[in-house]
Formats: sequence, structure tokens, C-alpha cells
Amino acid sequence: MNNEEALPAAFVALLREIAGDAAEQVLAGCTGDRCPAFRANTLKAGRRALCRELAQAGIVYRPHPLSDWSFTTTAEGEARLKASAPYAAGWVYSQGLASQLPAILLPLSSGVRVLDACAAPGGKTTLLAMRLGNGGAGITACDRAPGRFAQLLHTLRLLGAHRVQALRCDMRRPPPAIAAERWDRVLVDAPCSGSGTVRLDRPATWQRLSFDYEGYVASRVRIQTALVERAAALLAPGGLLLYSTCSLDPRENEGVVRHLLHLRAPLEPLDLSRWAKPFGASAGPGLRRFRDQEYGEFAAACLRLWPCREHEGFFVALLRRRR
Ligand SMILES: C[S@@+](CC[C@H](N)C(=O)[O-])C[C@H]1O[C@@H](n2cnc3c(N)ncnc32)[C@H](O)[C@@H]1O
Repeated sequence: MNNEEALPAAFVALLREIAGDAAEQVLAGCTGDRCPAFRANTLKAGRRALCRELAQAGIVYRPHPLSDWSFTTTAEGEARLKASAPYAAGWVYSQGLASQLPAILLPLSSGVRVLDACAAPGGKTTLLAMRLGNGGAGITACDRAPGRFAQLLHTLRLLGAHRVQALRCDMRRPPPAIAAERWDRVLVDAPCSGSGTVRLDRPATWQRLSFDYEGYVASRVRIQTALVERAAALLAPGGLLLYSTCSLDPRENEGVVRHLLHLRAPLEPLDLSRWAKPFGASAGPGLRRFRDQEYGEFAAACLRLWPCREHEGFFVALLRRRR
């Protein structure tokens, strides 16, 4: 059996369909090794102090062009990192490059009110809090799942993001404290099939895709659609909605954005193409079509990361509510 035959057949067939000529490369990105990544947390320590500590702990790492805070390491480096004092103290956060991207590209300024609708375990919330230096108008971070909400609270505490207000709720039906406000930034880092995170050596990343893949994707699309519809309604005039998933399936990505654009006319997509640069050939625009679906021109403004040695597969779209 070769590598890709170990993966669910429906998933491999889907990848061939969506990636076309690049399918072999994308499959190699799912079946090969992936180098771990992490980021600095300047709420707890400056970059120079962190680098000194990492060197003292014998941790091999490389800066990544995504941001001044982004690093990659080796499997051994990651093991050492997770056993190190800076890690225990929240000076660093173990976070893939793709997962860092949405919280890095979202435009922020000091007065914006930020709502993170699907926040647990808090990787993006704490990166946003870090970019705001714990300042600004504050961040509200929500999640529905009790266990994951506890992880969110832990991450906020450990990383020193003390201006974040955390709320456990279902963001398809937000409580009055959220629904009565209008928000300048809303993030929907949506629950998804996770098909961009597939790694052959980690069956937990693909076992769920082995049975009734189509039914599973349809159930994800239903919840994603409900979440973005609600999020769009909460936007202040001129506000930005960031939608992201770690799925490769266009129905969970371009399909959800198209639904929203059709439904809510005052939304316009913002061009993310310049954010492809730090990722080289493994990044590109959204797909304009899939099967019998035409997504249209907005897809060119979206960003797709294809899985490779450095990062997982990811999708990001940024929409602005007109004034
Ligand atoms: C992809 S994860 C979010 C990861 C997080 N943004 C981070 O960077 O650490 C999606 C999250 O959405 C949450 N979720 C699912 N359905 C939800 C709902 N209806 N309302 C709020 N959160 C929901 C899940 O519990 C899960 O924690």
C-alpha cells in the first residue's frame, strides 16, 4: 500500500478534484512530515529575551517571513520547546503558521471592538490581544463547547491576555450582551471538516473523514452558514468580517462566502493576495469553480494555503460591510 492509499478514498478523490494539476503536490503535503511552528507572545516577553532563552534551552528554530513573531522548528525542537521554561511561562504559543495567519492579516487599530465568535482554545484571540498590546477597546471571545471553553480560559491566563472577556455561548444565537452591540471586527474561525490538517502519521486527523464524508461536510456547511449569517448581522458599518477554516473543501469555503455575499448585499470582499507571498508556491487565490458551482470573481480576493511541509491547508476571506 502506498502512502495515499492509507487515507480515506473519498478524501483522496476530493483532493484530486479540487487541486487538479497540483494534486500530487497537495497529497504529498498531507502524507509527508510537517515541521512544527510556534509564535512569540510579546505580552509576556520581548523577542530578544525569548530568543536568548530558546538558545539557552538548545532549541533550534528559524524565523518565518509571515511575521516578526513567527518561527518554525524541528520535531526535536518542538519537544524541547514544550519542556522549556519559556513555554511553561507563556512566552511562546505552539501554533501552526496557517492558524496564525488570520490573526496577523486582520487590520486592527486601537479603538476597534473585536468579537472572536469561535475562539477556543484561544490561539487567534491571544494573537489579536498581543497585536493590540492588551489595549484598545478590548476583545470578546466566545465558544460553545464547555471543555474547549475551559482551554480558552487557560490560554488567556497563561499568555497574559487580561483584557479579553470570555463568554460561553452558541454564536448562532448570541446572548443580548453580544447581539445588542455592533462590532468593528468579527472573526469566524469556523468548525469544519479539518481536511487541511490531514497528516498520514496522525490518524486522528483523518479518521472522521473515513465515513459519510459528504454528510459530514453538509453538516459543517450548515453550521458555518448559520455562524457567518449571524456574524455579518453584528457588523458595524465599515466593519470587517474574517472567515477562516482549516478545510480544503470549497463547499466549506468559497461556497459559504458566496452564500453570504448573495444574502447580504452591503458586504464586499477585500483582496488578500499580498498575504500569499510569505508562503510562496503553497498559497494562492480561492477557487472560481468546483463541480457544477461557479463561485465567481470574489474568489480571487480570498486566500488558500495548500498543505505542505511548512503548514496545514487553510482558507481565509475578509469582507467589509459598506458604510
Ligand atoms: C476551528 S476551532 C477555533 C480555533 C480558535 N479560533 C483558535 O485559533 O484557537 C472552532 C471552534 O468553534 C467552536 N464552535 C462550534 N460551534 C459553535 C457555535 N455555534 N458557537 C460558538 N462556537 C462554536 C468549537 O467549539 C471550536 O472551538
